[in-house]
Amino acid sequence: MNQGSLASFHEYITTDKCRTILALCGAGLSASSGLPTFRGSGGLWKNYSSMDLATPDAFNVDPGLVWQFYSYRRYKAIQAKPNNGHYALSQLSKVAASKGKKFLTLTQNVDGLSRRAHHDPEQLLELHGSLFTLKCTSFDCTYTENNNFKHPLTPQLQGCEEEWINPRKRQRRTENENENENENEDGKDAVISTTGSPEFTPVKEIPRSGLPTCPQCKTGLLRPGVVWFGESLPFKVLDQADQFIMSQKVDLILVIGTSQSVWPAAGYVNRVKLQGGKVAIFNTDEEDLEGCDGWKFLGDAAELLPQALKPLIGDITEVVENDKE
Ligand code: APR
Repeated sequence: MNQGSLASFHEYITTDKCRTILALCGAGLSASSGLPTFRGSGGLWKNYSSMDLATPDAFNVDPGLVWQFYSYRRYKAIQAKPNNGHYALSQLSKVAASKGKKFLTLTQNVDGLSRRAHHDPEQLLELHGSLFTLKCTSFDCTYTENNNFKHPLTPQLQGCEEEWINPRKRQRRTENENENENENEDGKDAVISTTGSPEFTPVKEIPRSGLPTCPQCKTGLLRPGVVWFGESLPFKVLDQADQFIMSQKVDLILVIGTSQSVWPAAGYVNRVKLQGGKVAIFNTDEEDLEGCDGWKFLGDAAELLPQALKPLIGDITEVVENDKE
């Protein structure tokens, strides 16, 4: 971390000029907890891009396929542990008021790790919902269940937990296949081709009766309570975010582990800038820091955030140790 930049950041966050702080988080915040990001070095589930499966159309056409994908994601998120980046923001949510600051985290992540790091729920908005919320798809039924961590949700959804592959690994293995055509006959290192995936068991066909069904209306399928591509964000959440931004000037936005490619999340940075607020970006990819006229912190958010926020949150080592699950 650039020490000059860190010193001026520390100075700003401890002055009276910085009274309101907004954190905008993306998948990079959870990367060092072992959860894959969506773009850049993202991955595929079986042969599908996550962005193709995260749509209402995909669910309508093949709910069994989409539920297997979400079953995989729920499982991975349950296995993952919050990292020091989640804890740093959580600690800020707890101490902000005592330091004369207002603070809000707006997360695009659906993995529930900020909650599990005990982030103050009053200062946390999950823009894209949660993997652990279940909603009935029936038009007439309003059933919603929060914090459902059961895995698998039905016996038929067992067995798709480890089927993610990074495209770079796929590429390397395909090159390897061309060089050492006879080396894999024992099947120990079955090769993944770019056209098919013999390593994967085929996607199971799960009938409707094998998928999670609404306990209230007894007929509707349940779906994950996440916002899919093409769907509107929850009005209440957007409204709360707007209230935070419009009821006072936001003096600082922390842009953490996000490619800022999805609206309206991406728009919050401009809104803060237009108000005269400052920007600090935390990202491992230099390209995603380009164009930022604020503080640029290149590296893992899990390492950078505790250092950057230290003057406000103190040393979080003990907090993290005491919370080992
Ligand atoms: N620390 C900080 N940044 C990181 C780290 C890390 N350890 N690892 C990756 N990053 C950065 C990447 O460089 C990239 O800029 O995190 C960003 C992740 O970007 P995306 O994968 O696009 O994720 P995100 O911005 O959260 O995507 C927004 O798009 O697909 C939808 O609904 C999905 O919520 C998601 C939304």
